[in-house]
Amino acid sequence: MSITRRDWIRQSLLASTTMLVAGPHIAQGCASERLQDLGEKDGLILLNWNENPYGPSDTAIQAVNDAMKYANRYPDEQINELKEKLAKKNGLKPANFLLTAGSTEVLSLLGQHVGLQKGEIVTPFPTFPTALQFGQRAGATIKKVKLDSNDRIDLDQTLDAISDKTTMVFICNPNNPTGTELATDDLRAFCREVPENVLICVDEAYVEYSNAGMSGSMVGLIKELPNLIICRTFSKAYGLAGLRMGYAISNVRNIQALRERHLGAEISTGWPPLVAATAALDDPEFINKCVVKNAEGKQIIFNGYDKWGVKYNPSSTNFVYARDDRFEKDLVAKMRAKGILITKWPTMTNHFRVSIGKPEHMRTFVETVAEFLV
Ligand SMILES: Cc1ncc(COP(=O)(O)O)c(C=O)c1O
Repeated sequence: MSITRRDWIRQSLLASTTMLVAGPHIAQGCASERLQDLGEKDGLILLNWNENPYGPSDTAIQAVNDAMKYANRYPDEQINELKEKLAKKNGLKPANFLLTAGSTEVLSLLGQHVGLQKGEIVTPFPTFPTALQFGQRAGATIKKVKLDSNDRIDLDQTLDAISDKTTMVFICNPNNPTGTELATDDLRAFCREVPENVLICVDEAYVEYSNAGMSGSMVGLIKELPNLIICRTFSKAYGLAGLRMGYAISNVRNIQALRERHLGAEISTGWPPLVAATAALDDPEFINKCVVKNAEGKQIIFNGYDKWGVKYNPSSTNFVYARDDRFEKDLVAKMRAKGILITKWPTMTNHFRVSIGKPEHMRTFVETVAEFLV
């Protein structure tokens, strides 16, 4: 039987390494600390991890409450149910989806996949680091491509950086931590240009909040490009970060290969997260409300920054990335002392990142941060 080049790539892209036995602990890349106990969260304004301050939706809470009586059972048909719903929503088949405990799991699997074959990940940088960190720990080389002068991903430079050494290109769109978004057509054209033997991972964690909305997703290319893998999460707009529910979308062979190496054998998520996510997909009103409120919260912070001449990026997400040179040093620690958690990653030498909370949180943030203007 003859095998075409495309078929060969389909079979081999994710099938060429053995499994890593123990994964390292996830590093969020954030400098913001964990809290001592849950009660402490109630007294703080949490603008550090890009969580949805409105979630979870009532429908998701109800689904979890109803599911608790089945917590003695392994999840089974709930997995198929969620995949079927995702498939319908995205015009694909259930077999195009892998369900994971947050999209962190997909990113770590992909990073390890590249690392174990001593491959190379090309990535615009700064970006969300999980795939890069896992890749590096497992042996990958990371080739970073600078963002342009407006902190936007430079697709031409990224394409130029791909060589015969490259195993995967990672694109986070919209990008964390910079908040910028690529034009949908540009990203689509880029994906089509990437050589077929190079995996493309597009991380769409913030797609629901993006200016382009779901039409900015690369999901329409899944049937066309066998090397494309999309990561999505229920942690952001769906407000389910604490339940750990994410997924990968790709062609059936890639999903199968990921599934075979998934440390949780696809049951790392439990019955409650599965039913919560399934219920949440039936509640588009909740997402719409969160997106509108997010825009309101963002405008409050933009107004403050505009008044003071603070430079910030237009944000297509639920966070804002701004230069810190108008503020006193150690802003993160000073805000922490005032009960407001914000973020500065090690790569953010001149910037800090603020997640969008409820409008009242953003007003408090703006009033408080004004005390540290210099
Ligand atoms: C761009 C991006 N991708 C993936 C994740 C991982 O999210 P989770 O594992 O909660 O799905 C995050 C979390 O902040 C993120 O910002």
